[in-house]
Amino acid sequence: MLVNAPFEATSGIVTRIKLLYEEDLVGWQQQQASRVQAWVDLHCFRGERNKLLLVPSEQGTLESVLLGLGKRDAEATGPFWSAAGLVDRLPDGWYELHGEMSLSTLQQFALGWEYGQYRFDRFKNTPDKKICRLLVGKEIDVPVIMSVQNACSLARDLINTPANLLTPQILVQHAVDVALSYGASLRRYVGEELLQAGFPTVHAVGRAAVASPELLDMSWGNPEYPKVTLVGKGVCFDSGGLDIKPAAGMALMKKDMGGAACALALAQLIMHSKLPVHLRVIIPAVENAIAGNAFRPGDVLKTRSGMTVEVGNTDAEGRLILCDALTLADSEAPDLLIDMATLTGAARVALGPELPAMFTRDAQLAKELMVLGLREADPVWHLPLWAGYDDELSSKIADLNNVSSSGFSGAIIGGLFLQRFVSKAKQWVHLDLYGWNAKERPGRPVGAEPQCVRMLFAYLNERFAK
Ligand code: BES
Ligand code: MN
Ligand code: ZN
Repeated sequence: MLVNAPFEATSGIVTRIKLLYEEDLVGWQQQQASRVQAWVDLHCFRGERNKLLLVPSEQGTLESVLLGLGKRDAEATGPFWSAAGLVDRLPDGWYELHGEMSLSTLQQFALGWEYGQYRFDRFKNTPDKKICRLLVGKEIDVPVIMSVQNACSLARDLINTPANLLTPQILVQHAVDVALSYGASLRRYVGEELLQAGFPTVHAVGRAAVASPELLDMSWGNPEYPKVTLVGKGVCFDSGGLDIKPAAGMALMKKDMGGAACALALAQLIMHSKLPVHLRVIIPAVENAIAGNAFRPGDVLKTRSGMTVEVGNTDAEGRLILCDALTLADSEAPDLLIDMATLTGAARVALGPELPAMFTRDAQLAKELMVLGLREADPVWHLPLWAGYDDELSSKIADLNNVSSSGFSGAIIGGLFLQRFVSKAKQWVHLDLYGWNAKERPGRPVGAEPQCVRMLFAYLNERFAK
């Protein structure tokens, strides 16, 4: 929790947090009371990254907290993750940051502080009730930080919720709730309506599930403003379809709607901050299930665009539901079209779970997003839409296949497939993200991780905010 109050306004004890780079430790230590110097030595605290030292007062209460930042030139962390990782390890209480710091460091720290207090405790009978409060100065915009935190928590809750409790209908209902609370207009197509409305691929992928496939199309903002359109992959569970996944590959597939969750979180932030853009959000939501009416390997689907696709693999379902959504999005030539999807395992082989793969033909945009991602501790990495591989999507009987037979460069192939459905958008970015923390780290529990949301919000603000 963040408290916007002057130090004197608090009745209780406020513990100071000191962030220390390894290089600064000795100089800092020399200025401390001998008792503190001895304590630091006793615990061999050298300011190593994420190392925490609780310093007691003479009365045995908590006097201060030291947090190591590691070496000054190490890029991998920043104030955001330092703060997020700190709150897990501190006792309940009131805290404040000590020492000179830039405004951006303070802001990132305050946001990370909130972010680190997220818990997915829906199924816990005894939830952890700990609250660490951080006192911040007037220069910190607490409402903005809370809106980012709320949007990210929504995305995390959606991704963490198992598929028995997050059907396509429930996912779309969450998006509808967000849309209505900001006065967005919407259209919702359910089951057979998808066929009449021209979303055959969404229907084909989702029709075998007991829960009907859906597509949500929402719009918000002044039509005079620049058009920003978000598309999110909403596969609520990916069994692989008839090309069924092995158990290990299926285990985490409740998170296959991570792209939709991130797109929705970003949409909420855009609307909440009243960004002067004309926003459109398109979410195809399905379960890729197995039944007698499931789509099959070898089937040919006629897409919304008119192009026919041979289904080389039913497990490449994300690109199939996205292609009809992208055709709709692209039809009105948005200024910026962004799709977010847990599209390929290959993107994870290439970059691991922490770095979403970013694809765009706009080199300048790619550069800006990479720089902002590092600044916001929400990184992405640019991979190419290599034209030399485009012919691998060819099919003998249809206009294209949904997979390549080569098996190489799967993340690029996924991007190239989507690119076939985008021609009018002035800029297009495809983000192939993981949406999940694979290993336990301070502030990053194993579970949902909404990726690209903070980075994209920072970008849209820099570009469009008045
Ligand atoms: N949802 C998966 C991609 C995925 C797998 C994301 C694991 C994160 C972790 C996607 O629908 C899929 O199954 N992709 C296939 C594509 C292949 C059949 C061309 C894959 O990556 O194996
Ligand atoms: Mn799949
Ligand atoms: Zn999938």
